[in-house]
Amino acid sequence: MCGIVGYVGRRDCTDVLVSALTKLEYRGYDSAGIAVFENGKIAVAKTKGRLSDLTAKMEREGKPKGHAGIGHTRWATHGEPSDVNSHPHSGRRVTIVHNGIIENYKQLKQFLIENERDEFLSDTDTEVVAQLLDFYYDGNPIRCIRKVLHELRGSFALGIVFADRPETVYAVRCESPLIVGQGQGEVFIASDVPAIIKYTKDYYLLEQGEIAVLKNGAVQFCSLHGRMLEKELHTADWDEDSAEKGGYPHYMLKEIHEQPVSVKTTITPRIEDGLPDLSECGITPETLGKFQNIFIVACGTAMHAGMVGKYVIEKLARVSVTVDIASEFRYRDPLLTTNDLVIIISQSGETADSKAVLTLAKKTGAKTLAIVNVKGSSIAREADMVIYTHAGPEIAVASTKAYMVQLSVMYLLAFEMAYAKGRIDRDECRRLTSELVKMPEVIESTINSVVDMCQFVSTKLITADSLLYIGRGLDYALSMEGSLKLKEISYIHSESYAAGELKHGTISLITDGMPVIAVATQNSLLEKTVSNIKEVKARGAMTIVICDEEADIDPEAADYMIRVPKLAELLMPMVATVPMQLLAYYTSVNKGNDVDKPRNLAKSVTVE
Ligand code: M6R
Repeated sequence: MCGIVGYVGRRDCTDVLVSALTKLEYRGYDSAGIAVFENGKIAVAKTKGRLSDLTAKMEREGKPKGHAGIGHTRWATHGEPSDVNSHPHSGRRVTIVHNGIIENYKQLKQFLIENERDEFLSDTDTEVVAQLLDFYYDGNPIRCIRKVLHELRGSFALGIVFADRPETVYAVRCESPLIVGQGQGEVFIASDVPAIIKYTKDYYLLEQGEIAVLKNGAVQFCSLHGRMLEKELHTADWDEDSAEKGGYPHYMLKEIHEQPVSVKTTITPRIEDGLPDLSECGITPETLGKFQNIFIVACGTAMHAGMVGKYVIEKLARVSVTVDIASEFRYRDPLLTTNDLVIIISQSGETADSKAVLTLAKKTGAKTLAIVNVKGSSIAREADMVIYTHAGPEIAVASTKAYMVQLSVMYLLAFEMAYAKGRIDRDECRRLTSELVKMPEVIESTINSVVDMCQFVSTKLITADSLLYIGRGLDYALSMEGSLKLKEISYIHSESYAAGELKHGTISLITDGMPVIAVATQNSLLEKTVSNIKEVKARGAMTIVICDEEADIDPEAADYMIRVPKLAELLMPMVATVPMQLLAYYTSVNKGNDVDKPRNLAKSVTVE
């Protein structure tokens, strides 16, 4: 989704804005632009395309020179990607950049037209906000912003400059994320910390309706009601290196390799005396023991981690777990009571639908638990309890390490819940926990042992138009993620099916040479899965089987076998995930795709 940056300081503002926007590229975008105060006037440069297109344009037409300004990468929502629809957008005296969606922009546009303000150049909702600010501007920026905030409906973060307030940047947020970075005599705004980490690790989190005024290298905050605010300064616990590729050709590959460390950093502080201990997250065995139903709600990969969580929690703790897609759950009038726990899983902590579910769940009185990677994100701040995953910044759009740490938290929760409910005794809980503690090493050796085979098998996938992922039980939950990973970055159509369901329709799709990737790590279901593999093989499928190193699988059933270490059945997802990630990665590389920034996708989906 769109990225916003802003700067006030002594450096070359254009350089800072472009460099900061580069760090937000992972969010996905189709155009870029900046507005900089140059000799007291606002100079705008914007274009459809990548940041390199913007830089090239500025080289040709002149680069705005100054020390204060705002910048933007746009992911089109209202209006096609084009020069004119790119941000910044301007009214007569106001120029803005915007992330989010203004739901009532048509009514506001009508209001402006009726009041003889019909100077619209673009198809965007953003331009309406720029014009509205201009309409109400009476020389007092804060009063004007507050007035407009009361009229806007939707989710948004804005960076604003007023032509008669040189060297000053205003920022405001409602739903969409925005932070304010504080450096030595310089200040920044950004949609996310990686944008500013090169300059400072210190930042403020802008809350709903709060306005920031950046001037003379310092920032002041005021509330929606105009009251001055003192805010807490946060410090990022990672540095620029963590957000760089570190010698890997792509962020995705780097992040796959970071999984052992991410898992270790996530689980180690949550284990005490060999048992899970989530008390620092506000979760005690007493709290976990009392819930009647658990709802896990999330989007995409995070939802798939929830699917694994369902199997593991139900198996061990014998509590009913419903997993749902946030965009569906929020509109289906769910049956929630005060005895229920709603778990929201989100890497970014800013996903619009997941956030809406959290708000809805809180209204019903159900307890809410967020499992979130980004510190201080909206979902983390609003939930009753939060377990932070410590994956560090995940830049590639395709989630890998964030999924892996979400899985490890699912296990910790399941173990603690099962113990709290008396379903497993202390020794069993200790034993399971000790297995989890071994995971960082096991994941590392899995990466090393399967990488060559995955690279080779990916060459067999690149010509496919369509493929299937199949599995049973936990393998089915896993295959959903394998299939998503593959389709989002390789652009090969892929679906995941419960292996036993194939005969009820989908098997008619199998044609000669169609790849079918079978995840077969659940020993108790192995024979049945192998029968399903043979059924597709008999109909011409090219079969790729992901199984453990001891699995006794008829070599006739599998064209290619990718073997991972053998663990307890319940823990197999922690290793079987690895080849699925690498298959997707190498298929995308071999097809020459933009692995880290797949087409049409955004890292953080902050609109519905
Ligand atoms: O930030 P979130 O975890 O809430 O994001 C949810 C999905 O948008 C995300 O997992 C998406 O499916 C990934 N890009 C898939 O790799």
